[in-house]
Amino acid sequence: MLQTILVTGGSGYIGSHTTLLLLKAGFEVVVLDNLSNSSLESLHRVEKITGKKVKFYQADLRNTQQIADIFNENNISSVIHFAGLKAVGESAEIPLDYYEQNISGSINLLKVMKEFNCSQIVFSSSATVYGDPASVPINESFPTSATNPYGRTKLFVEEIMRDLAHSDPSWNIILLRYFNPVGAHESGLIGEDPQGIPNNLVPFISQVAVGEREKLRIFGDDYSTPDGTGVRDYIHVMDLAAAHVKAVTSHVKLSGITTLNLGTGNGYSVLEMVKAFEKESGKSVAYEIVARRSGDIAECWTDPSLAEKTLNWKANRGLAEMMKDTWRWQNNNPKGYKI
Ligand code: NAD
Ligand code: WQD
Repeated sequence: MLQTILVTGGSGYIGSHTTLLLLKAGFEVVVLDNLSNSSLESLHRVEKITGKKVKFYQADLRNTQQIADIFNENNISSVIHFAGLKAVGESAEIPLDYYEQNISGSINLLKVMKEFNCSQIVFSSSATVYGDPASVPINESFPTSATNPYGRTKLFVEEIMRDLAHSDPSWNIILLRYFNPVGAHESGLIGEDPQGIPNNLVPFISQVAVGEREKLRIFGDDYSTPDGTGVRDYIHVMDLAAAHVKAVTSHVKLSGITTLNLGTGNGYSVLEMVKAFEKESGKSVAYEIVARRSGDIAECWTDPSLAEKTLNWKANRGLAEMMKDTWRWQNNNPKGYKI
């Protein structure tokens, strides 16, 4: 029988790319999303690319009954849990919404899973749980801390899941700490579609290139990095999606709780990102150097070896592909999924 995976947040950026690969790998996919930060058009396009159907529920994790209804109507074997709010700055303005949706929402989901004897879950955590790391590359044994409510929600949910796994050995939980996801599916049909002004670097760069924004503001060139701008571990969203497919298939051999960093192991500066984007798109990206953004750190990249070994997976798309695919998506869809 085909395995059915519930993907919460499946119409969002990482969720839609993962849904695509799950369908390609032969899984049945049920998506739960309240569409607060995404459009159903992403899943229509996933269906177009794969020629397969996604079962979609417009439902909210704050509503336990809506989650239970989905479990009642489907034989869910594993959950990939992407749904939640993710804007660092906004989380300091409306912390209760972040705690309610990210933490209470996750608890509601876990309670329903327990009720239905579904004990396999992959959770979207973040490199933000390492706070300001003492050194790079970062591995999974580094101490964790949070500097904003968003990061705290990721840390708390990780801890809740750890307690749960310790309370009952039948749980099989994989915490995936993403570094900086970028890029889009090679078709140019799905990609990242931020609402309003993008918070993240690559969507901002591509919106400048396509004429939607005037210029990029580079937050500081006085960090102790080779060119003074911040250094991050950018990972292609299709490599990230592939890791999720490996994670749901690795549930069989892993037990208890497993924590993995997902990145490439390479760090690139903001200026290197701008140059790489210009090269792949043939467009020039206007920028100005402004003050540092509060809460930013100088550099952050991972040692990806534990994830590679555990999942038999490796990020194999380089910077050129990340930028080429970002540009194809942005150029074909200057206003994202909006017409
Ligand atoms: P996204 O906003 O595109 O996707 C999240 C989806 O969850 C959206 O479709 C949104 O509508 C849905 N959602 C939000 N609250 C919900 C609720 N209460 N009930 C039901 N659906 C809800 O974000 P993304 O970039 O795809 O991120 C996916 C996950 O990965 C998030 O948990 C995020 O915190 C985490 N993450 C993202 C990044 C990144 O840079 N994109 C990095 C590290 C971790
Ligand atoms: C990357 C670099 C900026 C925008 C954030 C979250 C993290 C995770 C991923 C969810 C930094 C610089 C950016 C701009 C710039 N999300 N920059 N001008 O800050 O590494 O991580 O997203 O879990 O939790 O904090 O990513 O893309 O915002 O920034 O100069 O307009 O680009 O200073 O050096 P970040 P980012």
